[in-house]
Amino acid sequence: MSHVMNTYARQPVAFVRGEGVWLWDEEGRKYLDALAGIAVNTLGYAHPKLTRALSQRIASGVIHTSNLWRIPDQEAAADRIAEITGLDEVFFCNSGLEANECAIKVARKYGHERGIAEPAIVVMEKAFHGRSLATLSATGSRKVQAGFEPLVSGFVRVPLNDIEAVRQAGEHNRNIAAVMVEPIQGEGGINVSRLEYLRSLFELCQRKQWLFISDEVQCGLGRTGKWFVYQHAGFLPDVVPLAKGLGSGVPVGACVVGGLAKGVFKPGNHGSTFGGNPLAMTAVRTTIDTMKEDGLLANAERVGGVIRKGLVDAFAGLKGVVEVRGMGMMIGIELQEACGELVKQALDAGLVINVTVDKVVRIMPPLVMSEAEGREVLARFVPLVKAFVEKRVTV
Ligand SMILES: Cc1ncc(COP(=O)(O)O)c(C=O)c1O
Repeated sequence: MSHVMNTYARQPVAFVRGEGVWLWDEEGRKYLDALAGIAVNTLGYAHPKLTRALSQRIASGVIHTSNLWRIPDQEAAADRIAEITGLDEVFFCNSGLEANECAIKVARKYGHERGIAEPAIVVMEKAFHGRSLATLSATGSRKVQAGFEPLVSGFVRVPLNDIEAVRQAGEHNRNIAAVMVEPIQGEGGINVSRLEYLRSLFELCQRKQWLFISDEVQCGLGRTGKWFVYQHAGFLPDVVPLAKGLGSGVPVGACVVGGLAKGVFKPGNHGSTFGGNPLAMTAVRTTIDTMKEDGLLANAERVGGVIRKGLVDAFAGLKGVVEVRGMGMMIGIELQEACGELVKQALDAGLVINVTVDKVVRIMPPLVMSEAEGREVLARFVPLVKAFVEKRVTV
């Protein structure tokens, strides 16, 4: 019996080696990775630039010092994040929930500074922001929250893509200090915000002086063909929580602020022992530099487009497939029925995918995937879905 706490329903496969977008298990079987460790392994596996940079950092002997001292790697990483986000200040932490926890604290502090004693944050149905008490309270899933009540108060929930609902919330609640939205919901089923909706939401926030928090933990960092989804909509949020793909597999998170949120945190307001340590910061610097050098944003848009078009064409008119949706290399295929068994069937076919909210298959490959490899994803995946829905229709 394993002593690992039983919090995940795991597949009985262990990947022990990787190269590019390919993984090998303990038996030497080879798999094509169309999931990237849930949008984490931006540069795929064994990218020579990341391997070299991390090896050098480890060999230097300094992988951790403390935020009590200057950390040049952290300064370099923050400069890069400021450049790609267009924002001003970066707080480094170690995960997505921590980045969001920081964002929630910034919003509350901002509210207090404006004279709101109990600041509230507008959040979305089906959102996922993490599993700490504050972030699971912000999350729009009873499954995530059940058993952990009492929830943290101060969240007002509305449906995604419904600007009127946010306006109404603002009419009824004078305590609102911020709106928090994943521009493309990941865990909730690859639900894409309309760009027009995001722009209206931003305008409303500006008018009301509410912070706009764009949780880009899963959809950000080049996956949609731009660094961040808000850049497709053409405005600058006040707070952008990041994690997942930021360190290409090394655990790291960041809460990036600008606009109305700039200068809200002062010394002593927040902290993290590990946050921004030299090892993680080397991963961040190298990930961002390599994405630029290797043209990975354009690659995500192009190869993601090939995969999405291939899926749309293959499933057109097919009973049992509700919708193919997403942007760039963030793709969801919603089926009519629960389809968790597809994960095992895909593994048997040498393909790594995932299913979320029971019925939505997620395809989120490493951003280094080539067009030929994208077509191979289609060649392995499409027949599985066809067989799955045909069986359901004939039963
Ligand atoms: C949009 C979003 N925010 C936050 C999180 C939480 O990140 P972590 O699991 O690193 O705490 C996730 C994780 O799936 C996410 O998708």
